[in-house]
Amino acid sequence: MNNAVAGFSKLSKEDKINWIATNYFSNSAEAIAILKQYWNQDPKLQQLHDEFIENTITNFYLPIGIAPNFLINGRYYSVPMVIEESSVVAAAAKSAKFWSTRGGFKATVLNTEKIGQVHFLYTGDALKLQQFFESVKDELVASTESITKNMRSRGGGIVAVELRDKTAELEHYYQLHVTFETKDSMGANFINSCLEQLAKTLKQTVQDYSGFSEAEKDLLVIMSILSNYVPNCIVRAEVSCKVEELSEKKIEHPQEFAEKFVQAVRIAEIEPYRAVTHNKGIMNGVDSVVLATGNDFRAVEAGVHAYASRGGKYTSLSHAKIENGVFTFWMEIPLALGTVGGLTSLHPLVKIALEILGKPSAQELMQVVAVTGLAQNFAALRSLTTTGIQEGHMKMHLNNILNQYQATAEERKAVADYFTNHTVSHSSVVQLIENLRK
Ligand code: MEV
Repeated sequence: MNNAVAGFSKLSKEDKINWIATNYFSNSAEAIAILKQYWNQDPKLQQLHDEFIENTITNFYLPIGIAPNFLINGRYYSVPMVIEESSVVAAAAKSAKFWSTRGGFKATVLNTEKIGQVHFLYTGDALKLQQFFESVKDELVASTESITKNMRSRGGGIVAVELRDKTAELEHYYQLHVTFETKDSMGANFINSCLEQLAKTLKQTVQDYSGFSEAEKDLLVIMSILSNYVPNCIVRAEVSCKVEELSEKKIEHPQEFAEKFVQAVRIAEIEPYRAVTHNKGIMNGVDSVVLATGNDFRAVEAGVHAYASRGGKYTSLSHAKIENGVFTFWMEIPLALGTVGGLTSLHPLVKIALEILGKPSAQELMQVVAVTGLAQNFAALRSLTTTGIQEGHMKMHLNNILNQYQATAEERKAVADYFTNHTVSHSSVVQLIENLRK
């Protein structure tokens, strides 16, 4: 089958759907019906979603769940989470409730620097380039005036511009390494516009500089782009309580629990295979709030994992200790987030999510996101070091299996009764449903 197509983006939405349905489905009418079933009934709202991206054919639903009772820096939050994994919201909510009676979460933004770079090649004398840079630095920054005006009035803008010599690693390679403060916006567009202007001014000023030979003026800008690595845009989240206060129904021996928990974290600190899964659990919490609030989870993921490898070996993002009878569990992660601009003012559900969070500043959102990640990590480690995760996970997954088999209310009841004292597995649920249907 040859399904190549020219000019797909120019087809109407209806024609795009028809093309997909006839080329990829034996029952094209059914495929079209399913695709259209997920259209919003309000054509204006549907158009809004259509225009977020190119070639939209329908909407892809993910649930928004709420994890309530997050006590962060003395204030309660109900945290909206967008995620498909069945046990994540329940785990966050459980963790939030647990810590709400043990002093809550403490969160602090340590710094908020964003980075962008103009990457260029220069074949001349390095010292001359440095002298040139010192002489034009102010002019470079001044050329971004009109782009930075609004941001400066909000207390942000370009914080520093450095010339970096990278020729030891790559021949002729230099950078303008630029530091930004973008306040409540994530700042991607702002940063990239500034960088492109800096690159333009760089090329012009090189031509006008009398200290360069003609060959040296041949400076080649390769690209100008923000970095999603933000190791100086860090938020710290922490919980702590006396070891004996960890006691609850499932934690009968708090000292033993705390020691095992700390050991589990140590394993993630030294063993990359475990660290990746450990951090994935953290990202279950982080990504779901990042998504709900209209932020770029790919940028966050890339930055966080780079940070987890900053020492040259991938390691745990979180840490735990017991000191003088006090259990402390914490993490520091880089998060470049925005609460204005981008999708935050476009997607109606993002607006709702931000409203539920009390219209937070970017810094407050950083705190909520980091705390949700830590809560998720706590829930995972608590299960892993006590009952194992399958118990809770399969209980939540049970519902998905029942839906998959379109179980009736009676079947659901029978299944629920059976699994109150049996271990849930996919095959045992299917077997039971099949038996009930015989
Ligand atoms: C599952 O999505 C996440 C966990 O595997 C995290 C962990 O192992 O710490 C439970």
